[in-house]
Amino acid sequence: MIPIHFAPLQGYTDDIYRRLHHQLIGGVNTYYTPFLRMEGGGIRNKDLRDIEPTHNVGVPVIPQIIMKSLKEFDYLVKVIEEKGYKRIDLNMGCPFPMQAKHGRGSGLLVHLDIVEEIVKSIQFKPNIEFSVKMRLGWEDKEEWRPVLELLNNIPLRQITLHPRIGKQQYKGDVDKEAFTSFLGNCRHPLFYNGDIKTIADIQYIEETYPNLAGVMIGRGLLARPSLAAEYILGKEMSWDERRLQLIEMHQQLKAHYEKIVNSETQLHSKLRLFWEYMDSELERKSYKRLMKSGNLKNYLLAVEGIEPL
Ligand SMILES: Cc1cc2nc3c(=O)[nH]c(=O)nc-3n(C[C@H](O)[C@H](O)[C@H](O)COP(=O)(O)O)c2cc1C
Repeated sequence: MIPIHFAPLQGYTDDIYRRLHHQLIGGVNTYYTPFLRMEGGGIRNKDLRDIEPTHNVGVPVIPQIIMKSLKEFDYLVKVIEEKGYKRIDLNMGCPFPMQAKHGRGSGLLVHLDIVEEIVKSIQFKPNIEFSVKMRLGWEDKEEWRPVLELLNNIPLRQITLHPRIGKQQYKGDVDKEAFTSFLGNCRHPLFYNGDIKTIADIQYIEETYPNLAGVMIGRGLLARPSLAAEYILGKEMSWDERRLQLIEMHQQLKAHYEKIVNSETQLHSKLRLFWEYMDSELERKSYKRLMKSGNLKNYLLAVEGIEPL
């Protein structure tokens, strides 16, 4: 059995989603917050709420940051350290042009001078354990090589590699050959991330890369929140079991969001996200009814009628 980490997914895996997933479904060793970033000289209140320790009680969660400079790195680390966290994940993988074009996420991989400054600064922060989540490069699948040379020289908890380049976004196949090459050169524990959807996919990765430290799963867990728990169980759960879990998690999400949103429209659009990646799991008509529900009343009726594919 290899450990499974839940990938950060901006807009989806917020504090309440992570807490409910951990309490009601589980199977995941570690959760990551969607990236925190500097905006207008500070951090958005919404992002601060997401890492508030009282919102994350009992959940194994690591805050993640995205930065384009040493200044941003230092600021974000300080804020998170002040909240009492001892671990931070560094985003060097985000492919969204809004971030990457400004030298953040996978866009940072081509700014070796800045990576070097950050790497040096990490050595003077012994109270925090860092990890890195990265892609092969921004526009070339060899760009990871000099970055890894720098990362190999500092203490890191782990690296998670998504074997695509930033410019690809999520198109094309993951590059298994490049992953093997990275694994051979990496002195840190390495996690695989990318396109894992089934128990068989996890087992395939486990068998293909015996030296792997674990896997990180994102969209596969949004699509099937019980995937990690089923892997540990060694078999698929029945639809009745999964349906009960989904309905319970959805019910508790609804109770939580009802307290923090201002209108039915907002509640509807927030809750709808819970099912958005489940097109491969739900019967076509039930999925469509959820996605096209239009208002809260129709939506809640659609939830009652969900059926498996
Ligand atoms: C909507 C969305 C939001 C994401 N937000 C983040 C993020 O905040 N931080 C991060 O490191 N990666 C983020 N990612 C990338 C995922 O963590 C993950 O690396 C990617 O989806 C590939 O893994 P998967 O195929 O298992 O989903 C995001 C991806 C998507 C689709």
